[in-house]
Amino acid sequence: MTEITGRTAVVTGGGSGIGMGLAQALAREGARVAVADIMIGNAQKVADAIRSEGGAAIAVECDVCERASIAAMKDAVHAAFGPVQLLFANAGATSFDPLMEMSDEDVDWILQVNLHGVMNTTRAFLPDMIAAGEGHICATASMAGLLPGWIPVHAPYSAAKAGIIGLMMNLALELSEHNVHTTSYCPGGVATGMKVNNARYRPPRFGGPADEAPLHVGEESAAVAASHAFYTPEAIAPMVLDAVRHNRAFVFDHPDQREHFRRTYSAVVEACYDAADEWHRDNGTPAANPHGAMLLQD
Ligand SMILES: NC(=O)c1ccc[n+]([C@@H]2O[C@H](COP(=O)([O-])OP(=O)(O)OC[C@H]3O[C@@H](n4cnc5c(N)ncnc54)[C@H](O)[C@@H]3O)[C@@H](O)[C@H]2O)c1
Repeated sequence: MTEITGRTAVVTGGGSGIGMGLAQALAREGARVAVADIMIGNAQKVADAIRSEGGAAIAVECDVCERASIAAMKDAVHAAFGPVQLLFANAGATSFDPLMEMSDEDVDWILQVNLHGVMNTTRAFLPDMIAAGEGHICATASMAGLLPGWIPVHAPYSAAKAGIIGLMMNLALELSEHNVHTTSYCPGGVATGMKVNNARYRPPRFGGPADEAPLHVGEESAAVAASHAFYTPEAIAPMVLDAVRHNRAFVFDHPDQREHFRRTYSAVVEACYDAADEWHRDNGTPAANPHGAMLLQD
């Protein structure tokens, strides 16, 4: 079990949407919360609202693409609340464009904010957790990461989100001896301002921010969006905290998407295993390398 009450939590991207819902739910459960966001005004509003309800919260400006910015954020959190036991690496930005219509800067930004941002914050706060022999990292991935074959014109985003799942699952192996656990939260449709506000979060080194930059949303993506319910961040946050409390590897907020998983992932993997079986049957099992894993010259 992961304890939430009385612990210190950092929520990146806590200034709006899912992160805001998580920050508020954490505070209601008795955690001290650092609301970290590139949009400091939004983070401040969330921290103020938490404090006005009697919770403990601070707002800290942070760009998760920049390690120095995360280090400064960590110092501020330490000064206010001491070491961190709970990290919600949630900051992210989306894109819905064909890969070759994206600029290099577009691609770099989407990979940096979604994947490197989680890596950077994880590496910054892990030493606290390992030293304490206690901790939990919950990274906001996406169903687009678990099911990269589901939503079109989403390639760098899907790659980054799949990378988060790989990071969290592999780290779980490395960290179990330290009593540090990981969770990949895979939102499958939460009503937030992401698509509208996205370009405003774009750091200057990736060509941002833009005050108003309407995003191109592919027709197929819109059809996917229309095909199921979007839940509110407030409704989803307790579900995420429940998974963290129970050290679950994943949170799926739309159980109905299990069928998409079967069709677009399990079925594809099974079919490829069938093809591998058939190949081995027809061609014989390949000879094993006599040196084991090492490819040495005889
Ligand atoms: N809303 C959904 O349906 C959905 C689905 C799948 C995944 N997600 C993921 O959920 C997470 C939260 O998104 P949301 O839907 O709440 O949208 P949102 O736009 O409301 O929240 C994103 C937050 O991240 C912050 N942010 C962006 N870039 C940052 C940076 N470089 N450094 C620090 N903060 C930064 C923004 O200021 C904002 O507060 C994202 O990782 C997103 O990819 C959302």
